[in-house]
Amino acid sequence: MPELSSLAMSFGAAARDYDRYRVGPSARMLDWLLPAGCPSVLDLGAGTGLLTRWLAERVEDVVAVEPDARMRRVLTGVCPRATVLHGFGERIPLPDARVAAVTVSSAWHWMDPALTLPEIARVLTPGGSLGILYTRRDRRVPWVDALDAYVHEEMGNDDWIGDLIQRMSDGPWLPDGVPFAPPQAHVVTWTAELTVEEVVAMFATYSRYIALPDGEKRELADLIEARVRETAEMRDGMVVMPMICHGWRTRLITS
Ligand SMILES: C[S@@+](CC[C@H](N)C(=O)[O-])C[C@H]1O[C@@H](n2cnc3c(N)ncnc32)[C@H](O)[C@@H]1O
Repeated sequence: MPELSSLAMSFGAAARDYDRYRVGPSARMLDWLLPAGCPSVLDLGAGTGLLTRWLAERVEDVVAVEPDARMRRVLTGVCPRATVLHGFGERIPLPDARVAAVTVSSAWHWMDPALTLPEIARVLTPGGSLGILYTRRDRRVPWVDALDAYVHEEMGNDDWIGDLIQRMSDGPWLPDGVPFAPPQAHVVTWTAELTVEEVVAMFATYSRYIALPDGEKRELADLIEARVRETAEMRDGMVVMPMICHGWRTRLITS
């Protein structure tokens, strides 16, 4: 089993809240990401299936691989059509050439690309596609950026996933020698209408927050709530949260 940091495996402790309060990827992004008529797909690092459930509406044969049993339990409940397996990006429990597409949603940063990319290449059929997604609050909007920066500072954390997304957006990011074509990038934006409580609960589904002692969690939740009430754009009592989904797609090159 690959070594996983406790943060990488922290989400299960909040699996139901994760499923309820995280804003999932955009369906419009899937239109771009999935090859037309795709017969089979593997959702890797599937979590509670925020992406898997969309895939199950479009693809006949859906496999989800997720290392955390608590996340898998929620996933199996919400997405009974998917075949749900224990596994890792670095060790995928599928035979060679099993699926036409692989997706990784908000989980790429937990995987070791040097081990995961050859595994993805192994389980894809010739010419198969790999899609990587990140769904986040849109920090290009000043109040969102200020709120996220505040929460990161309170948690003593930098936005390392944001930095990864920036690097992947700035130029080529696949390691040399992997059998994939240069990735294409795409961005989809929308707004999610959320209650203040839902915004606070969304922040509580991140690994750094989950790792805090209970007393600190409550304190931080109160601080976040006050900050959201002070700074967020509101409409009819709801927070109008700008969201962004970053996507990259590439194809397996077969010689
Ligand atoms: C932020 S969640 C994303 C879940 C889901 N894909 C989504 O879009 O909501 C990250 C997931 O990656 C899983 N994970 C962590 N390390 C992993 C690894 N090495 N291989 C596969 N999944 C991993 C975690 O258990 C967690 O469920």
